[in-house]
Amino acid sequence: MLFLQIPLLAVLLPGGDNKDVVQEHILFHVIQISSFANQSWAQIQCSGWLDELQTHGWDSESGTIIFLHTWSKSNFSNEEFIVLELLFRVYLIRLTQEIQDYASQLQFEYPFELQVTAGCELHSRNTTKSFLQVAYQGTDFLSFQNMSWVPSPEGEIRAQRACDLINQYEGIKETVSKLIRNICPRFAWGLLDAGKMYLQRQVKPEAWLSGSPILGSSQLLLVCHVSGFYPKPIWVMWMRGEREQPGIQRGDVLPNVDGTWYLRVILNVEAEEAAGLFCQVRHSSLGDQDIILYWGHHLSLNWIPLAVIAPLILLMVLALWFKKHRSYQVISWDSSPCCPHCNEK
Ligand SMILES: *[C@@H]1O[C@H](CO)[C@@H](O)[C@H](O)[C@H]1NC(C)=O
Ligand SMILES: *[C@@H]1O[C@H](CO)[C@@H](O)[C@H](O)[C@H]1NC(C)=O
Ligand SMILES: *[C@@H]1O[C@H](CO)[C@@H](O)[C@H](O)[C@H]1NC(C)=O
Ligand SMILES: *[C@@H]1O[C@H](CO)[C@@H](O)[C@H](O)[C@H]1NC(C)=O
Repeated sequence: MLFLQIPLLAVLLPGGDNKDVVQEHILFHVIQISSFANQSWAQIQCSGWLDELQTHGWDSESGTIIFLHTWSKSNFSNEEFIVLELLFRVYLIRLTQEIQDYASQLQFEYPFELQVTAGCELHSRNTTKSFLQVAYQGTDFLSFQNMSWVPSPEGEIRAQRACDLINQYEGIKETVSKLIRNICPRFAWGLLDAGKMYLQRQVKPEAWLSGSPILGSSQLLLVCHVSGFYPKPIWVMWMRGEREQPGIQRGDVLPNVDGTWYLRVILNVEAEEAAGLFCQVRHSSLGDQDIILYWGHHLSLNWIPLAVIAPLILLMVLALWFKKHRSYQVISWDSSPCCPHCNEK
């Protein structure tokens, strides 16, 4: 149950075993955010994502793709990227121009923002679902369905007008269709293959506890922090003996800058009942060795070696320091002829 999602990549990737667990999908998509400040000023940001992992950026100055990982090129050749870059460059310039030209006709009011997400969902070797959606000011505006542009209900008359306009261009529809239905799945499967080592890596979490009294009550707020783990699925629970504690608040799993994840799990508890509670962390990278942190001890089973080693290190440091200190003294005694009896106190 717990790690249903973990074998996912293994299943989707060639050579994965465990064929039973194919109920998830993997998404590759490109996000484009165009901000229009006024008639003459627009800014465009583009990025490519494999699920929640950013794989590509876009350099607007040079109009080139930025590859964020060594495997971000999937199995495409440089020639294919030259064609894709040219296509994106032309698309972005033309789109910006067209929108500025048609802004008043479409009743877009400056400043405004358009967001586009386009890509494909990989379900198994032979099924994919492709999409392209556009939002205006953060609200659904229109989408590409079955070879035509379809307004979203939220887009109202503006979206209808925009669709009427762009539906006239057969070439654009064909290009979009080819990009999301043909090129996207090929690219994304290749990406999963090329990034296999990275995507299937296992990074162990670190965990620590913090607690603070809740003002105006006799309760404590206990927080179990778990950070630096990969992949994302994780089980973290406040426990007493075998019992999971009710009423915990589990935060969102948040990204760290290095691509690992962070989670905190919070429990409110009467101060006198805090003793004996522990936070338990289960993650694929830990195997069967759950991390267990007792509130009050602040020492988990995993940390016990550290508890033994730390004083040893301290002793060694002290010993070295004394030794060094002594040798300095010896030198100074030897080299101070004016004080021949100094060491005889
Ligand atoms: C357009 O917006 C940009 C960025 O906010 C600003 O620097 C520029 O002066 C504006 N131009 C006009 C004509 O309003
Ligand atoms: C996908 O391929 C499998 C065999 O490899 C086949 O049994 C299945 O019907 C295919 N599904 C679709 C939707 O084509
Ligand atoms: C897509 O269009 C084709 C023909 O134009 C039609 O047969 C098919 O039912 C449409 N599919 C959907 C999901 O609208
Ligand atoms: C890249 O890999 C995908 C999936 O394995 C494959 O369909 C495709 O033909 C390969 N080559 C290119 C150039 O897309």
